[in-house]
Amino acid sequence: MRTLVTGGAGCIGSALVDRLLAEGCTVDVVDDLTTGSLANLAEARSVVGRRFSFQRLDVANLEIADYIARKKPEVIFHLAAQCSQRIAYAKPAFDAAVNIGGTLNVLEGAVAAGTTKICFTASGTTLYGTSGEVPTREASAWKPVSPFGVSKKSAMDYCHSYRETRGLEYTALALANVYGPRQATGPDPAVIASFAPRFLDRARVTIYGDGNQTRDFVFVDDVVDALWRSSQRAGGLVLNIGTGVETSIQTVHDRLATLTGFHAPARYEAALTHDPNRVCLDPGRAEIHLGWKPFTDLDDGLARTLEYYKVHPAARERATR
Ligand SMILES: NC(=O)c1ccc[n+]([C@@H]2O[C@H](COP(=O)([O-])OP(=O)(O)OC[C@H]3O[C@@H](n4cnc5c(N)ncnc54)[C@H](O)[C@@H]3O)[C@@H](O)[C@H]2O)c1
Repeated sequence: MRTLVTGGAGCIGSALVDRLLAEGCTVDVVDDLTTGSLANLAEARSVVGRRFSFQRLDVANLEIADYIARKKPEVIFHLAAQCSQRIAYAKPAFDAAVNIGGTLNVLEGAVAAGTTKICFTASGTTLYGTSGEVPTREASAWKPVSPFGVSKKSAMDYCHSYRETRGLEYTALALANVYGPRQATGPDPAVIASFAPRFLDRARVTIYGDGNQTRDFVFVDDVVDALWRSSQRAGGLVLNIGTGVETSIQTVHDRLATLTGFHAPARYEAALTHDPNRVCLDPGRAEIHLGWKPFTDLDDGLARTLEYYKVHPAARERATR
């Protein structure tokens, strides 16, 4: 299968690229390297033959549509996005230009290329706004509140529009809190990418809020498996990709303490405004339509994430900045 991955130098994207190459696909990666890195593609670049290429390109630039039209991928995994909630609040127009404008450019390119399927990574943690139902099912109201949530939902709506008006099939995976090796730390790192390197460095972490707020942590390889399955199935559907298990931030802290043997208590600061109190996605629909279930438990996933930061000190230095 000829595939194209936008955002392929990021955490999820690069793991997906490795999986696609292992499955025998040809993979063209587009990424502007804002949060991703070429180091994440080291394995992919060592693949012999001409099955892998990398192009540094901004999806918000119209050029991407021509590039896709030339590459003629059968399936596009569209992961490139402005992922920072903080930046989205500060610069909503920029966030929209990348997440909505960038998606439109990719969709236009896909139509011109004769692509059969777009697999889109939606945000399950923002899509449902303050819907209240936990675990949250796809049937809950889609009422994102944050600018990032709105831009990701609009991009998803455009995928649906192109399906109905241009015959371009899509599946949108509404991801929970993804974690694992190669996670970008950037301006506001995800919680495990922020905590894990600090535990290895024997440095206390800061918890915003009392630590009882919950998240649904899903390991990157499990997400990649769902993406791979979605390339062939579940046309026109939005599917939650989470564990259905709520884990508090305090629990993550305590598990990392046990795994690293560093038991200093966290510091506590005021909760960040707009941070949801509970996140938990019901993955039942993904099981029905993709035959997918999460398969990595939290301790295994945390151990593999810690191992990554141990053997990649450069990533750890970036993470602790
Ligand atoms: N990590 C999560 O918890 C989570 C949850 C829900 C949805 N998602 C979605 O999954 C996708 C991948 O996220 P990730 O966790 O791997 O993040 P990431 O930051 O590691 O990956 C995003 C990639 O997109 C690239 N990128 C950013 N802006 C770009 C642009 N304008 N043009 C081209 N490339 C650009 C970055 O350089 C990076 O390599 C994103 O669409 C994100 O919104 C992630």
